[in-house]
Amino acid sequence: MSESRVPRSRRFLVCEPRHFAVQYAINPWMHPDTPVDVDLAQEQWRALIDAYRAHGHTVETVEPVAGLPDMVFAANSAVVVDGRVFGSLFHAPERRPEAVHYDTWFKTAGFTVHRPESVCEGEGDLVWTGRYLLAGTGFRTTREAHREVQEFLGRPVIGLTLVDPYFYHLDTALFVLGDGPDADIVYYPQAFSPGSREVLERLFPDAVLATREDALAWGLNSVSDGRHVFIAPQAEALAARLAERGYLPVPVDLSEFHKAGGGIKCCTQEIR
Ligand code: ARG
Repeated sequence: MSESRVPRSRRFLVCEPRHFAVQYAINPWMHPDTPVDVDLAQEQWRALIDAYRAHGHTVETVEPVAGLPDMVFAANSAVVVDGRVFGSLFHAPERRPEAVHYDTWFKTAGFTVHRPESVCEGEGDLVWTGRYLLAGTGFRTTREAHREVQEFLGRPVIGLTLVDPYFYHLDTALFVLGDGPDADIVYYPQAFSPGSREVLERLFPDAVLATREDALAWGLNSVSDGRHVFIAPQAEALAARLAERGYLPVPVDLSEFHKAGGGIKCCTQEIR
């Protein structure tokens, strides 16, 4: 069955965790008194980059900036569809200065960047399925930003309300398997309001439904190229279910980053 799953090679933007730390708490995972092992974080992050490259993906890097410990979470910097870059306006004042550094990277790479007027945290909350832009709100990205991104990309934006503070970004509760017009998703239903859950059921009747254990193990913060799923080894049960569906799980441990409320997808910005 796995023969039928075809990977598509991706272009990723990442940021080395040279200045990674947990210095403030802006989500329930963050405890500034818990020490972070930066050497281990570097090692784990390199293993992720190596895994991407070994599977045929292109990885580019933005220079990390001292004093911006969350800058490693590249997914929050923008959402890019068809070469259109919708930048970010971070919710937390601590993260606001990251945006200018990412914008500079995009501009140097030849893109024009749209600066949003309302709070919007890039692919953290805006997930492109190949057909829809699924858009989380409730903790970070606002409804106003959903309207703005729909106007900018000209793609159907489906607003989804997040209700569990542990899953404060859409990419902690949902990910896409592949990205064609028929791409399927994996999600943890209880992270969403009842109405949003119903929307997901209607749009994705064949979705893989994850448990709270899968979600707490960072299993939903995964990256898939249509065949491989780069997934936290802690989410063993979910990986096994994806294997049954014909996907090839590639375990990558980012445990140091879980202390900041981030995982594989958070560290990965896709440029389409
Ligand atoms: N500490 C960061 C924050 O709370 C983690 C961001 C994780 N990124 C993500 N795409 N979920 O903003």
